[in-house]
Amino acid sequence: MTKPEELKRRQADLMSMMGNGIAILATANHQNRNGDVMFPFRPDSDFYYLTRFPEPEAVAVFSPGRKEGEYILFCRQKDPVKELWEGRHAGLEEATGRYGADQAFPIEDFHTHLPELLCNQEKVYTMMGRYPEFDNGILGNIAEVRSRRRAGTRAPWELVDLRHILHEMRLIKKREELKVMRAAARLSAAGHVRAMQRTRPGMYEYQVQSEMEYVFRQGGSADTAYPSIVAGGLNACTLHYTRNNCKLADGDLLLIDAGAELDCYAADITRTFPVNGRFSDAQRAVYQVVLDAQHAALETVMPENPVTAYHDAAVKVLTQGMVDLGLLSGGVDELIETGAYGKFYMHRTGHWLGMDVHDVGDYKVDGDWRILEPGMVLTVEPGLYIRPDDTVDEKWHNIGIRIEDDVLVTRSGHEILTGDVPKDPSEIESLMKH
Ligand code: GLY
Ligand code: MN
Ligand code: MN
Repeated sequence: MTKPEELKRRQADLMSMMGNGIAILATANHQNRNGDVMFPFRPDSDFYYLTRFPEPEAVAVFSPGRKEGEYILFCRQKDPVKELWEGRHAGLEEATGRYGADQAFPIEDFHTHLPELLCNQEKVYTMMGRYPEFDNGILGNIAEVRSRRRAGTRAPWELVDLRHILHEMRLIKKREELKVMRAAARLSAAGHVRAMQRTRPGMYEYQVQSEMEYVFRQGGSADTAYPSIVAGGLNACTLHYTRNNCKLADGDLLLIDAGAELDCYAADITRTFPVNGRFSDAQRAVYQVVLDAQHAALETVMPENPVTAYHDAAVKVLTQGMVDLGLLSGGVDELIETGAYGKFYMHRTGHWLGMDVHDVGDYKVDGDWRILEPGMVLTVEPGLYIRPDDTVDEKWHNIGIRIEDDVLVTRSGHEILTGDVPKDPSEIESLMKH
């Protein structure tokens, strides 16, 4: 749980970078699922990062230097009749008390208050295009202020994307955030361990999924960070397989890519293991290549290295492995240069991780690949995916393997957050025996 001081610091950091302007952020909308049923509400990550306010129908405004208060929160009022159906609303009192806003107003009054807040501001920072209708409302209010210029007020003349500032902040995780991310990683690892222990031939993918997600939910995770991928055999070669409805065959591998979300922070782990608890020689050979690639990639995760270094390191080992296994022929450098390795390895080796599983933050800065810095969290997830194909020896068919860990860049190198779930083949086999 983010401490109030930490939240204040975050807000102050943001405002110190804004100059003469105001920032306006809405949280996510409730989404309809079907009929009268809604999806469970999940706050907008940017809004939640700056407010920790967990309810729908809320807008935060940050106005540096405003004497009545810099942080204004618009939210639902207390309403006993609505609350009877929907549960408690924080209301205006808690918005300023528990949630630390300087002022709070009913959400219905947002457009009544906004023109005054926009007066004489140069810039308006928004999450441009995220909620287009909301943006339109703000533009309407700006027009309203402009129409009053004869009274001497000036309307803002610059619209700026708040992401520009905010996502740089979110990219570097602070101590409080790392606490939550470590907890999400540990819980997710425990779920993967249980999945390994419970898997047997003849089970359905969704049954293994439920064994794993049981641990997530027991540990207080409201939802997974993204739909779990539980993919037996050939299904593992579909990168975003989420049907999870097939029977697991003796002799196949099972690839599980899943992570729990805790307090809006994601974990993202992949492990691949044999359904019957024993790797075949062919499976073990491919597995070892992916594991070696992951080790090589991890070795490059440290400050001062560009974010591309770990992908390049993984691709090198994977491509050499593809040649050694006879999946590809030719020189490694050429196979990399021409992209031929992409036949069996078609994704990047990782991404930023944080409140969003594919977290925010630019990968390039001023045209150059970003240099890693302490506090960045990323995934390292090489894989090999071999679909049935005439050009490939049958013994490799249907082997889809990915190994994914979550890694924090530290001052001296890195820390693996998801090390609690085994990935060494012998360790996996011994865990599955019990
Ligand atoms: N689970 C999505 C990913 O690994 O990027
Ligand atoms: Mn990932
Ligand atoms: Mn993943």
